[in-house]
Amino acid sequence: MATLLEMSQALSGTLNLRPSLQRLLEILAKGHSAIRSVVTLLTEDGELIIEAADGLDLPVRNIRSRVGEGITGRVVESSKPVVVPRVSREPDYLHPAVKRAERPREEISFVCVPILINRKAVGALGVDWRFKAERDFDSSVKFLGVVASMIAQALKLQRAVEDERHRLLAENTHLRQELRERYDFTNIIGTSGPVREMYEQVSQVAKTNTTALIRGESGTGKELIAHAIHYNSLRAKKPFVKVSCAALPDSLIESELFGYEKGAFTGAQQRKKGRFELAEGGTLFLDEIGDINLATQVKLLRVLQEREFERLGATDTVKVNVRVIAATNQDLEKVIAEGKFREDLYYRLNVFTIFVPPLRDRKADLLLLVDHFLEKFSREHGKIIKRISTPAIDMLMAYHWPGNVRELENALERSVLVCDGQVIHAHHLPPSLQTAESSGTVTRISLTDAVGAFEKDLIQDALKTTRGNGAKAARLLATTERVFNYKVRKYAIDSARFRN
Ligand SMILES: Nc1ncnc2c1ncn2[C@@H]1O[C@H](COP(=O)(O)OP(=O)(O)OP(=O)(O)O)[C@@H](O)[C@H]1O
Ligand SMILES: [Mg+2]
Repeated sequence: MATLLEMSQALSGTLNLRPSLQRLLEILAKGHSAIRSVVTLLTEDGELIIEAADGLDLPVRNIRSRVGEGITGRVVESSKPVVVPRVSREPDYLHPAVKRAERPREEISFVCVPILINRKAVGALGVDWRFKAERDFDSSVKFLGVVASMIAQALKLQRAVEDERHRLLAENTHLRQELRERYDFTNIIGTSGPVREMYEQVSQVAKTNTTALIRGESGTGKELIAHAIHYNSLRAKKPFVKVSCAALPDSLIESELFGYEKGAFTGAQQRKKGRFELAEGGTLFLDEIGDINLATQVKLLRVLQEREFERLGATDTVKVNVRVIAATNQDLEKVIAEGKFREDLYYRLNVFTIFVPPLRDRKADLLLLVDHFLEKFSREHGKIIKRISTPAIDMLMAYHWPGNVRELENALERSVLVCDGQVIHAHHLPPSLQTAESSGTVTRISLTDAVGAFEKDLIQDALKTTRGNGAKAARLLATTERVFNYKVRKYAIDSARFRN
């Protein structure tokens, strides 16, 4: 009982099985005068390998044999124990690959029991004892059976943990892949001149370890660019960690960035790593850098220069290998003039600056973005949206988009949600665009004008469907060609525009 207890403790201490088994065999030698003992396990390829051995004075690593070979092989094959009372009468008693160094002077008995998981042998435990005529082999087999079942339990647990680890690893790889795809270049929509220039810059800076500064109005896609830089760099497999500087109060930002030691301040109950340390090997994205306070700016400058810092309340220095990407929609030069941003930090950040153009300067991309978002949102909301009407497009084109791509994205999500058919019409677009389009005209639209706008909308739409064929369009709207042509003239619609 004492030995069994000791063995179970040896096995339960750790998930690293090999040393635990080694310890178990030593206990067997000490407590039960085993001369030699071997734990053999079945590998995934159906071979037997020695996992642990005691009393053999030769290295056992990588000794392989086959199921059915020797006594051990037969025990695994049959899942039944084997007892050899006198080894001298049995040629291959212990293990086919393990030959004894010299012929034993005294007679030896060999007992081998299977290690069973779900009644199937996954290995065997073999033990050499000094031959004693009075030995009760039945109880020896029973005893070793208990030891083997403890080993089986430990194995089962270890394999469950291994499986879980493999599953998590696979899941992690998959998720990383998904992230990479999501932030792939190809997901940044746009082919206009300014955007192509920007792609060029992104691919240039991605290859380096240079600090990058991304500037542009709110909603222009700065975060998307930061992701693209990371996922196209050599650091792609390492973490991408984001810090929203504007969202964190001054009192928290330093502990978030640099971490703290236990007891650094009230409430610091244990050491915590900062985002710099979490991003080790990867990229740290400092969003809204213009909003960071002056004291933190000093510390940040030091990290950028020396790549080292101290956790709050710590004396030892932490070295980090992190690429920093910062973004801001503020006019940094103005903030510097106001004394709210350090000039030296600005120069450190300004090594490679990417300007993201506002949407109104890249109207050429608008249609691509519209298509992209309509497809995305109709998929997300389970709607079938076939296209967007010409007047609606005109309206989108006329608007000045102060909120840039984000505003466009929101406007289109709304329009997909309120759309009752398969076509997005002008009246599905948010009111902010409606008033903008009618700017210059009266603010309160009369019924006649509203009906007129709707009519014009429908006619243009029908013309688009029929590629400018008026007769077909008239039929589509269940009206006569005469009425149709009259309205086309009335609303000054250019049918030729739809012909190609
Ligand atoms: N070129 C683009 N192609 C596709 N989607 C884009 C593009 N640019 C921006 N977006 C989308 O617009 C939204 C706003 O982008 P993002 O969050 O990157 O803007 P930002 O510049 O960081 O804005 P802010 O300064 O307000 O934080 C996101 O949902 C993003 O996916
Ligand atoms: Mg942002």
